[in-house]
Amino acid sequence: MKKLVWERKDLLGLADLSKEEVELILETAESFKEVSSRQIKKVPALRGKTVVNLFYEPSTRTRVSFEIAAKRLSCDVINIIADTSSVRKGESLVDTGKNLEALKIDIIVLRHNSSGAAHLLARNVGVSVINAGDGWHEHPTQALLDIFTLKEKFGKIAGLNVTIVGDIAHSRVARSNIWGLTKLGANVCVCAPASLLPAEIEKLGVRAVTDLDEALKGADCVNVLRMQLERDERSIFPSSLDYFKEYGITAERLKKLKKNILIMHPGPLNRGVEISSEVADGKDSVILEQVTNGIAVRMAVLYLVSQGKEKYAFNY
Ligand code: CP
Repeated sequence: MKKLVWERKDLLGLADLSKEEVELILETAESFKEVSSRQIKKVPALRGKTVVNLFYEPSTRTRVSFEIAAKRLSCDVINIIADTSSVRKGESLVDTGKNLEALKIDIIVLRHNSSGAAHLLARNVGVSVINAGDGWHEHPTQALLDIFTLKEKFGKIAGLNVTIVGDIAHSRVARSNIWGLTKLGANVCVCAPASLLPAEIEKLGVRAVTDLDEALKGADCVNVLRMQLERDERSIFPSSLDYFKEYGITAERLKKLKKNILIMHPGPLNRGVEISSEVADGKDSVILEQVTNGIAVRMAVLYLVSQGKEKYAFNY
């Protein structure tokens, strides 16, 4: 069988990818994971390339993880926080991108509060664009590292029962997980208060329920979403305490289930809001393993888009 070759210059979301492309990223990440356990944690794969992390929103995990991934591939890395750049003087995203391109960089990793920002930038620059989270739309590398972690734990994705709990309506993590998991054959259940479940979400091939105990029944894994407290909390749910009572993942709730289930969370955690500390730090939690796996997944994505850009330039 002919081996799939990555041909895209960008990674903008999982919705556009084929099952084979998702599998190629996961396989490439597997081969890069070992690099982080070496004494000298570096390979020359992207020596001479320059990556710019362009972040319009706060981030700890994604930004640092992309920086480490790029450095492990021997790239040069520049971090731009929009608040301390010429964005403050009114420069547009596209103009910022074109100026970075003029500085002969190779890859822009973009986090932006507007859905579609990564697509807009990718259409306007010849350098590779990686979406590091755009508004409510997608956070592809988060979903890929979630799926990578699941595959490590269960040895497969097809047939797994994965429940995603929380603010599904405003979650780019949920959307990218749904696209990736369903493409690979997992059974996905989404659970939230009715006000946080998008209309017709079932059309994406998932089961939608409002009762948490029902959603957890038979699950192999629960991926707990962060309550986005930077929004007006009262408009989402009466209070954090009420949310925790109805939708919080607690040891008491999990004890009622017949089997142990894997606990995932993209971070940052709101302890005592969507998850108890006992569960977050408990033996079934892989929350910090997800963070570690983010490096290998992002190394894979940086590597593949660099290959794809060369093909794109050739066909341009
Ligand atoms: N999971 C995630 O995107 O975390 P950060 O916002 O810290 O990057």
